[in-house]
Amino acid sequence: MPAPDPLLLATAIDAVQKAGAIQMAHFGRPMRIDKKGTIDLVTEVDVAVERMFRALVAERFPDHQVLGEELQEDDRLRAAAPGYCWVFDPIDGTTNFAHGLPIFCASLGLELDGEAIVAAVYDPTRRELYTAERGEGARLNGERLAVSKANDVLNSLLCTGFPYTVHESGEELIGLFGHFIGRSRAVRRLGSAALDLCYVAAGRLDGFYESTLKPWDTCAGALIVEEAGGRVTQWNGQRYQSRHGHLLATNGLIHDEMRAMLTDYRAQRAANRTV
Ligand code: IPD
Ligand code: CA
Ligand code: CA
Repeated sequence: MPAPDPLLLATAIDAVQKAGAIQMAHFGRPMRIDKKGTIDLVTEVDVAVERMFRALVAERFPDHQVLGEELQEDDRLRAAAPGYCWVFDPIDGTTNFAHGLPIFCASLGLELDGEAIVAAVYDPTRRELYTAERGEGARLNGERLAVSKANDVLNSLLCTGFPYTVHESGEELIGLFGHFIGRSRAVRRLGSAALDLCYVAAGRLDGFYESTLKPWDTCAGALIVEEAGGRVTQWNGQRYQSRHGHLLATNGLIHDEMRAMLTDYRAQRAANRTV
């Protein structure tokens, strides 16, 4: 595949950096916070950032589609669409953001016929810009990224997250968390899936898994991991695309071991339920 048009990455960078400026203008200050569910928050800043993003794409690429978390009018684009589609999370880590905890970012991936080809994630509190283009590698503030070299789970730093349905149906995921804690160096829960993926790409984490993720959580980060030399699949080992909810991203070396642990734990639970 030829390298993507440089204007695409430039636009992605522009969008996430503008998002970061809006986020920082409000971070730590009083803001309107609404609830989308029992524990699922949306702030006025999420909405303001997404409006900026939609206006930017409409101005530069009026024939491209967009998929954003907060202002999506229907579910049509939840299935990968043909052509170009910009997939945007205005604040990934909204709970952290609303509580004044500086672990959040804006995440933007561009898909062509359902395949991510360009990605930009910006963490404004650390001024870290993660970027990738399909076939061209991944970068942090312009420097090439590479995944870690840890080659077993026992010596790995892992990360996960929990969906907003965790109160209602979190038992298996919480059990799985314990399963990995007992078999790895440690498991973190940072609260921003996009940054979790960037940290796998940067070698700060060795592996990350989560279920029920949305396209805007992973579209950019999954490409960044792959372009840093890592591996991203569904939990069952099949190819990952942003519409698949269950994601496993690793440095590649611990992928099969983590996947076996996911499978074994779930099989064990299912067997225990039937006895
Ligand atoms: C959430 C974060 C969190 C993950 C949740 C996501 P949001 O996104 O990425 O780490 O565990 O599954 O929904 O709501 O902050 O954009
Ligand atoms: Ca998100
Ligand atoms: Ca969000």
